[in-house]
Amino acid sequence: MTNSLQTVQINLPPDFIDLGRGDPALSLLPLDLLRRGAEVRFAEGDPSFLQYGTEQGDGRFRLALADFLSRGYGLDVRPENLFITNGISNGLDLICTLFTQSGDTIFVEEPSYFLALRIFTDHHLHVVSIDTDENGLIPASLRDHLAESRPKFLYLIPTFQNPTGHTLTQERRDELIQLAREYDFMILADEVYHFLKYTQKPPKPFAAYADDKNVISLGSFSKILAPGLRLGWVQAHPETLKLLVNCGLLDSGGGLNPFTSATVRGAIESGGLDQNIDKLVDVYRERVAFMDSCLRKYLPEFVYSIPRGGYFFWARLPNQLDAAELQKRAEPFRVGLRPGVRFSSRGELRDYIRLCFVFYESEQIEDGVRRLKQCIESSK
Ligand SMILES: Cc1ncc(COP(=O)(O)O)c(C=O)c1O
Repeated sequence: MTNSLQTVQINLPPDFIDLGRGDPALSLLPLDLLRRGAEVRFAEGDPSFLQYGTEQGDGRFRLALADFLSRGYGLDVRPENLFITNGISNGLDLICTLFTQSGDTIFVEEPSYFLALRIFTDHHLHVVSIDTDENGLIPASLRDHLAESRPKFLYLIPTFQNPTGHTLTQERRDELIQLAREYDFMILADEVYHFLKYTQKPPKPFAAYADDKNVISLGSFSKILAPGLRLGWVQAHPETLKLLVNCGLLDSGGGLNPFTSATVRGAIESGGLDQNIDKLVDVYRERVAFMDSCLRKYLPEFVYSIPRGGYFFWARLPNQLDAAELQKRAEPFRVGLRPGVRFSSRGELRDYIRLCFVFYESEQIEDGVRRLKQCIESSK
């Protein structure tokens, strides 16, 4: 439901607890940090960041971002390998526009991020899903599919995946890179949750292979700073980036988000971004533990593994309960969830749900889980 004065995308009545929503809490969005970042730029008296921007993205911002990523990834990230986007969604859309044609085959994980699937649908791509397990995408399953068709690209979320929370092992990462070279397809690695690690240090990101023409790593400030910034990046081989930089969209509009880039540069250079991530990790680690304790207390029949990073619990319902049905029945109990089928390209995973532990504080998390229990019990 929208009203004409609405600002945020999801605007629910205050008595409704939507455990499905994957947004950061308003109280964790860093107003002061970004205000200070903008103030530094305005105080400099150079209005260049209000001009149409250079197509690849502001050079000084890319330098600051490269420095942040080099430290965070433990790699040597260079500014010439970075291209600034309006966020990962925009990066994916632009890559589809420039690298694919309607009817092309692409591969995704089963399950995958449901809103990326929507972008692929907008581009009329033929989506084939590859099996995964608790260690991420299964290379043998990929090989089977490669024997039948060649994708334009493989889209995957290698670390703290959405919706499963699973992380692809280093061994499998190496194997996928080998397969991409051998069969000549592109890997689009969506690394949006890489920095949100609570109890596991993830393997090297795919950004480590971005000198390879077969790999594109996508990153975003949405989960480590604020989604309203609409700011992200693509890290890839300079020849791949050339195709992005030379597109009509940028020829007309200039580089993406120069104003926001200038502000966020302030937040990076002051050390505020690192502090913000440390704070989010501390808060989210506690929320994982708390949601886990609530699930064990109220819904012990749910089967899941405790997320080690990212945003989500991915739980299997008992007795093959249909999660889409449960979602409908949960509405009068004023609680929401995301049914697994929305993440499946095969119309499967009907007895799974995705719950997010990030948006709500303890009291509402407990209330939400309790309401879900009441809903399930009411229909027994
Ligand atoms: C896996 C994944 N990719 C991309 C996004 C969206 O990223 P952005 O806000 O940078 O477009 C999300 C947001 O939930 C996500 O979970």
